[in-house]
Amino acid sequence: MHKISIIGAGNIGSTIAYLLTNKQLVKEIVLLDILEGIPQGKALDILESTPIELSDTKIIGTNDYINTSSSDIIIITAGLTRKPGMSRNDLLFTNVEIVKSVTEKIVTFSPQSIILMVSNPLDVMAYVALKVSSFERHRVIGMAGVLDSARFRLFIANELNVSVNDVHTLVLGGHGDSMVPLLNYTSVNGIPIKEMLPLPKINKLIERTRNGGIEIVNYLRTGSAYYAPAASTLEMIESIIKNQNKILPCSVWLEGEYGLADTFCGVPVKLGRNGVEEIIILNLSDDELESLHKSASEVKENIKALNGKL
Ligand code: NAI
Ligand code: 2OP
Repeated sequence: MHKISIIGAGNIGSTIAYLLTNKQLVKEIVLLDILEGIPQGKALDILESTPIELSDTKIIGTNDYINTSSSDIIIITAGLTRKPGMSRNDLLFTNVEIVKSVTEKIVTFSPQSIILMVSNPLDVMAYVALKVSSFERHRVIGMAGVLDSARFRLFIANELNVSVNDVHTLVLGGHGDSMVPLLNYTSVNGIPIKEMLPLPKINKLIERTRNGGIEIVNYLRTGSAYYAPAASTLEMIESIIKNQNKILPCSVWLEGEYGLADTFCGVPVKLGRNGVEEIIILNLSDDELESLHKSASEVKENIKALNGKL
């Protein structure tokens, strides 16, 4: 793999571009936006950091999809962000048009690529990309679970005053208020979280995780989180490019797994050279499975609301 294109040179797109350039994972990065000058200026600025970072990766900014031709991975970050008082779903109808037009270009210029979706509402936008591209499902993947899990890990680590490296968890479900943190798969260096913290305390941390996006929107007021979302996307890109087969919670199209079908939903997957190499099936408790189904049904409702728009 040698070429990655990032569509949307806003906060997340340009942060991914910066991190990716200086990690030297690929030879060539293309940053594209509809705004003239913005991707060109940001790409040049990033390129000027490479002599200091000792990176030989090349990055260009453009408004023309011809430059994205034959990309191995395309990251979609184009779209509007939430403002205070808005839910991710409020972005639905504007972003569907944007993601639809972006996906049509991807099919034309990079028909063999893997699409990583970042734009919100995440699970529905991943569906739009899958539907419009007609790519196999292992090539269209949504980023959300890595971010939601990172937030939960941080809040647990802070509460216990332990290293974030020791905290492991999986947050599944749709990227919304009904996301599903799995307590049975949450541990601190192998010690179950339920042995480390009382349940009411854990529930507070879960609540904060669910509101992790809006907590930042309320501070920024003009946009949403981007450093942690960009770092989360990077972890997924690295697992694909290096064929690491990391198990990460990602939004994928389900065809019967967990008793769910015809919807995107966050589940643990193995990410490697082909994108989704395998969907990992966990032995969930009845309560966890019920929460996962509830969360997926909310995504399904929004997919239904797109009726006729694709
Ligand atoms: P931003 O507003 O900083 O950047 C978005 C960029 O998309 C802008 O530069 C805009 O010009 C560009 N754009 C709009 N229409 C376009 C088109 N048709 N073609 C190419 N570019 C186009 O937004 P930011 O902060 O980078 O967020 C991007 C998206 O990611 C938002 O939808 C946001 O809600 C979502 N997000 C998703 C997260 C997740 O966990 N999946 C986490 C945080 C944000
Ligand atoms: C986030 O979780 C708003 O989806 C965005 O930060």
